[in-house]
Amino acid sequence: MRIAVPAETFRGETRVALVPRSIAQLTGAKAAVAVQTGAGASAGFPDAAYREVGAEMVADRDKVLGDADVVVVVRRPDAADLRKLREGSVLIGLLDPAGDPDPVRVLVERRITAFRMEALPRISRAQDMDVLSSMATLAGYHAAVMAAYRLPRIFPLLMTAAGTLTPARTLVLGAGVAGLQAIATCRRLGAVVEAYDVRPAVREQVESLGARFVEVGIESAEQQDAGGYAKELSADAQKREHEVLTEHVRDSDVVITTAFVPGKPAPVLVTRDMVSAMRPGSVIVDLAASAGGNCECTQPDKDVVEHGVTILGPTNLAAAIPGQASQLYSHNVTRFTLQMLKDGAVALDFDDPVIAQTCMTHDGKAMGEQMAALVGAPAS
Ligand code: NAI
Repeated sequence: MRIAVPAETFRGETRVALVPRSIAQLTGAKAAVAVQTGAGASAGFPDAAYREVGAEMVADRDKVLGDADVVVVVRRPDAADLRKLREGSVLIGLLDPAGDPDPVRVLVERRITAFRMEALPRISRAQDMDVLSSMATLAGYHAAVMAAYRLPRIFPLLMTAAGTLTPARTLVLGAGVAGLQAIATCRRLGAVVEAYDVRPAVREQVESLGARFVEVGIESAEQQDAGGYAKELSADAQKREHEVLTEHVRDSDVVITTAFVPGKPAPVLVTRDMVSAMRPGSVIVDLAASAGGNCECTQPDKDVVEHGVTILGPTNLAAAIPGQASQLYSHNVTRFTLQMLKDGAVALDFDDPVIAQTCMTHDGKAMGEQMAALVGAPAS
């Protein structure tokens, strides 16, 4: 059994899929690990650190991809790389095709068993494999730090001999994994924090972090599904949400948005009109930029200034913290890989939701309705 880690080639990606600490766990499960020379350098893991734990360093990328039974990546490699994977091998990573059928077709043609980690079910047993939560935690932290850095005033209350400086007012929209970490970080920096989420269940968590929960007054049945995930709001509920948030956005120095509904475009919570009513110098950090943005003015990976308000739409904040982001990612994918290895070979149980929900192609077929529809094949 040979597991391989190629260097990442996606623009701006600094993470590496496996850090040296994870290699020993995989070799303990009778796997040999090959790493492309330099793959960990941008995350602060030199080749020597991999050699020390028994990894083989391979300079030839085609060999890394073509000789492995299991290839572990952060981002989906491009189509040319996918064609180099050995027929019948396994690919694990953030592979979301985002509506593009071509990579799925190549994976089907090459009979690759591909697992997209972003589709992992959020169940207790899979918590230690949950890469989205790991990355969202870091992104929430970093969004707060970015906002503090870009805001032309300080976050905490300061009482000095020259007078009192009032604390910054921060509003966090969406209090899931990223939002809660943004709230906690803004609080640690001394801001007064308000937060809003459609799911009433998070009120307690928001308050336990010392933030005030913004009440919109929508029926709770409308706001979440049976699994506890947010639903898309009705037109009436959206109108009510807009009315209440308009006031809170206007009075905030910083707005951090993280609202997200699985499988849907990001809900627009901050309109252009709301931005124009904010004080000049205020800052919005929109973590949902890659899903269309929670703010109407957001442009992915661009700094936009509208009416004196700065709107940031970073799409890969984890890449700004590459060492620790890789450490968490590596732990998650190692747990995922280990649970499918038996006696040094890949053994798949498609009755297990962790396998069934993440598998996008297997044995020459697109798996599940979504992938099958994307390549125009019947669902298997
Ligand atoms: P999550 O699913 O844990 O949280 C999203 C929250 O948004 C949920 O609590 C949900 O109830 C809430 N929500 C949905 N509709 C809403 C509405 N209309 N109003 C208020 N709240 C609403 O997701 P997570 O992991 O916290 O990620 C949040 C977002 O951040 C996602 O869009 C994700 O893709 C993005 N993200 C961005 C990163 C970056 O570098 N830009 C890195 C990691 C995550």
